Amino acid sequence: MEIVLSGIRSTGHLHLGNYYGALRNFVQMQDSHKCFFFIADLHSLTTHPKAEDFHAGVKAILAEYLAAGLDPEKVTLFVQSNVPEVSELYVLLNMVAYKGELERTTSFKDKIRGQEDNVNAGLLTYPVLMAADILIHRAHKVPVGKDQEQHLEMARLFARRFNNLYGTQVFVEPQAFNFGKDLLKIPGLDGSGKMGKSEGNGIYLMDDEKTIHKKVMRAVTDSGPTQANSPMPESIQNIFTLLKVVSTPDTVSYFTDKYNDCTIRYGDLKKQLANDICKQINPIRERILAIGGDDSYLRYVMEKGTAEARASAQTTMKEVRKAVGFKSF
Ligand code: TRP
Repeated sequence: MEIVLSGIRSTGHLHLGNYYGALRNFVQMQDSHKCFFFIADLHSLTTHPKAEDFHAGVKAILAEYLAAGLDPEKVTLFVQSNVPEVSELYVLLNMVAYKGELERTTSFKDKIRGQEDNVNAGLLTYPVLMAADILIHRAHKVPVGKDQEQHLEMARLFARRFNNLYGTQVFVEPQAFNFGKDLLKIPGLDGSGKMGKSEGNGIYLMDDEKTIHKKVMRAVTDSGPTQANSPMPESIQNIFTLLKVVSTPDTVSYFTDKYNDCTIRYGDLKKQLANDICKQINPIRERILAIGGDDSYLRYVMEKGTAEARASAQTTMKEVRKAVGFKSF
């Protein structure tokens, strides 16, 4: 069975873009692939989050993943820092990662622009740690968005370099997993672009009804169509894209007709959208709260996932340590 792996940083809650995008596809993959899904808490430390809030962030994502339908009986679910073998591999891969290429990484250049006073080496070697995440489980496929493609390319480069340097086949070169048209791109509520946590334009799985209504009512629109069948500006297209995801086809065509004959009232459209988002999200939010409050279940899930991830990591590391020449006395 093909091995699929994906990681998510632990700062910030999951939004509708995560859910209707990759996460729904992850749930589909549980039966067809051997899946490793983890929370990249070490990566999160590059931005120096407060220690007292840190665990709550990890726990929130875990509860949200489980509530969205990831089944710990089918997939290996774990937290990066609970698998110390990853950190060991990271050290070894740092020896085949060159300063120049790390400095040229697009994400590094982007990230230091946002935190000039904290250009730490963890930020520079972010792609090396990510490569360790992937290579340690010899993943074949990694579902990545555009912003992570370069990191995956570097994981392949480090795998190839390490294999060549030590004359081994231990690492598999991971390929990007492309969901193609199954990957819905969820727009944000700010008129343009996609939903994202850094953009602050999102609806979160944890949002309650009141918050959802407030956010949707504030979504950017225009002054309305004045000519029959005129093309929609991006902000209105985005509202319709969201409507198509959460509402019935009848509702979508009702409002499309209203737009086309210029009788649409955006207030009605938004109210409908907010109601239908709530209908989809309410049961998920309830599950998040229930799972988040069930410490013994979370402990069980983490113990199981950590044991599986460490067993897989240790198998690889045995070969890696041998390849570099470590030997016991
Ligand atoms: N860098 C990824 C992101 O920001 C998170 C991540 C860390 C990851 N390690 C990974 C994704 C390994 C895929 C595979 O989204």
